[in-house]
Amino acid sequence: MTSLKDLMTLYQQRVNTALETWLPATTIQPTRLHEAMRYAVLNGGKRVRPLLVYLTGRALEVNPELLDGPACAVELIHAYSLVHDDLPAMDDDDLRRGVPTCHKAFDEATAILVGDALQTLAFYVLSHDPKLLSTEKQRLNMIETLALASGSRGMVGGQALDMVAAGKWLSIAELENLHIHKTGALIRASVKLGALTSPHLNETRLEQLDHYAKCIGLAFQIQDDILDLESSTEVLGKRQGADLVHEKATYASVVGVSEAKRMAVELVEQAVNSLAELDENADPLRWMANYIITRRY
Ligand code: IPE
Ligand code: IPE
Ligand code: MG
Ligand code: MG
Ligand code: MG
Repeated sequence: MTSLKDLMTLYQQRVNTALETWLPATTIQPTRLHEAMRYAVLNGGKRVRPLLVYLTGRALEVNPELLDGPACAVELIHAYSLVHDDLPAMDDDDLRRGVPTCHKAFDEATAILVGDALQTLAFYVLSHDPKLLSTEKQRLNMIETLALASGSRGMVGGQALDMVAAGKWLSIAELENLHIHKTGALIRASVKLGALTSPHLNETRLEQLDHYAKCIGLAFQIQDDILDLESSTEVLGKRQGADLVHEKATYASVVGVSEAKRMAVELVEQAVNSLAELDENADPLRWMANYIITRRY
């Protein structure tokens, strides 16, 4: 029996190789922009979203070759969101994945352009990838899924809510809405993209997987909020305590740490329950749900 740790290593290496190929070489003009794009993407990161693409595909017995493109696309969007999230106009962070943030290592204008270029590269990958043997209808469905999840009705919308929420009192419902958008949307899209590569997908299975993804997406950001309080800068690879400094609306600040932990556990239980009808090929997705709330960074 294989473990989640082994699968994580396998798929992290797999997506890193694919990302390496899609990102323009640093010898191509404009070299500094391409250098900064590679810096922002190929600098570690847990690759949780690509892992969800691969593990969902695995649960549905999809050939991993078909999953490389969607896995890269979602990680490119995520990497862009981190570069912009760290900018002085947003969270103003100087450390990411254990190294200086993109705008610190390069400059602000370059970091803005890196985000822009990574975002469009994600859609280039989905529209162009020759390994994606899906029908044109499936390919369009994937592009639509990622576009909706990334934009103002998804991640960017959540980031907008996050910015206006700083320093303000939020109800649990408002906070949940914020987290579901800023982090949940892309996690949900990762699972859906993995599912859409399957030729035998039916509506019921898609709904079960989507419910799983919704629950772990929210749990993921709750854990991120908890780690900001409980972990350390060394372990996190980003500044611990940054949410407090910026008076961010977090689960810890709204409901307290122990209630936040209880809610995260409950969400993971719900996530695992929604996979009840899936066979042992879905076990890694079940392990992943637990990993999301037990991870230390
Ligand atoms: C951090 O995401 C930002 C959030 C959406 C909470 P990750 O914790 O997945 O960051 P990396 O990709 O591993 O660096
Ligand atoms: C970021 O949330 C979410 C996105 C980048 C979309 P956070 O601001 O909490 O992420 P970290 O803590 O900086 O990684
Ligand atoms: Mg932020
Ligand atoms: Mg941030
Ligand atoms: Mg955070």
